[in-house]
Amino acid sequence: MNTILQKADKAGIAQGAALIRKGQVVAFPTETVYGLGADGTDSEAVRRVFEAKDRPRDNPLIQHIAEFSAWLPLVEDTPPLARALAAAFWPGPLTIILPASGVIPPEARAGLPTVSVRMPDHPVATALIQAAGVPIAAPSANRSGRPSPTDAGRVWEDLRGRIPMILDGGSCRVGLESTVISLEGNGVRILRPGGITPEMLETVVQQVKIDPAVLAPLEGRRIAPSPGMKHRHYAPNTPLRVAIGEPDTQIRRLSDAYDILEGQGERPILLIVEEMAPSAGSRRRIPWGSLKHPETLAENLFSVLRQVDESGASIGLCQSVPPSGMGLAVMNRLLRAAGYRTLD
Ligand code: TXA
Ligand code: MG
Repeated sequence: MNTILQKADKAGIAQGAALIRKGQVVAFPTETVYGLGADGTDSEAVRRVFEAKDRPRDNPLIQHIAEFSAWLPLVEDTPPLARALAAAFWPGPLTIILPASGVIPPEARAGLPTVSVRMPDHPVATALIQAAGVPIAAPSANRSGRPSPTDAGRVWEDLRGRIPMILDGGSCRVGLESTVISLEGNGVRILRPGGITPEMLETVVQQVKIDPAVLAPLEGRRIAPSPGMKHRHYAPNTPLRVAIGEPDTQIRRLSDAYDILEGQGERPILLIVEEMAPSAGSRRRIPWGSLKHPETLAENLFSVLRQVDESGASIGLCQSVPPSGMGLAVMNRLLRAAGYRTLD
């Protein structure tokens, strides 16, 4: 299949929407990461999304809407708590799971009785959804298991030849995917941390629980509350280790591991923030961002993970960040990318 890399201007968006109305898939920018969109009400179109990215069929898709009223037909009911959350954070990187009506076909929900919905905060996404006139089902536009793409070039790397069109709308502002929540009593449970932090949710709801699977592997026989939790994710092809501990301890663990691995004939590379760079000396490193500007850690993470593969290194050694605010989402992606292998 020939893939067109199309500028996301008015004409490009109209072409993309026409493809979606015909049951085709189109990659498009959102404020979080690029999505691979199709008509969320069309089971055949949804099947194409799974095929293009080799996605396991048991992993459901998020429905993207452009107006509040578009939410109502997709779900059985919108409880007051859900409406309060939507009012506070939509458009924006919050995905809300609710019992599904019959409008979204089981293929898009991976057979679950629930449906997840979000309203992206990006002019191209909004215009595309409006022009298509349907909810757009969209997972991140990467090959399954790979780091999510935050610019059109990264989508091209993964999906060239597998989809008809990529709408190029530049780089994504947030860089990590939306926060996925379910409602629980008077509060919410975070199944995947993201652009809306626990601290932000606490301004609207009484209780914010963080699912144990956010920072640790799923325990033994526990059934994943969100199917995405059980799949390997966000990973470069090169193995990765994450250093745990206070900053000084981390730098010692990273340098020691680097020197030992190099002595064994490996080609290690460090993934560290600007503030740590002086302690790395002449060791090879990929600059990640700055602790003084924590949003850069989220924004650059997936690109840094892809750079590990491009660097020719045989192993990546990454520092960790405190798991509060956006740090929770950063650590969730990082630990999963490393398969929970830590330096401690
Ligand atoms: O920011 C985002 O959310 C991006 C952009 C494109 O909107 N999309 C995205 O989609 O990250 P995806 O498919 O890569 O991740 C969706 C996650 C998966 O972990 C999936 O298991 C979970 O949300 N999910 C979707 N529907 C669900 C449901 N009904 N119940 C539980 N988990 C659900
Ligand atoms: Mg994804």
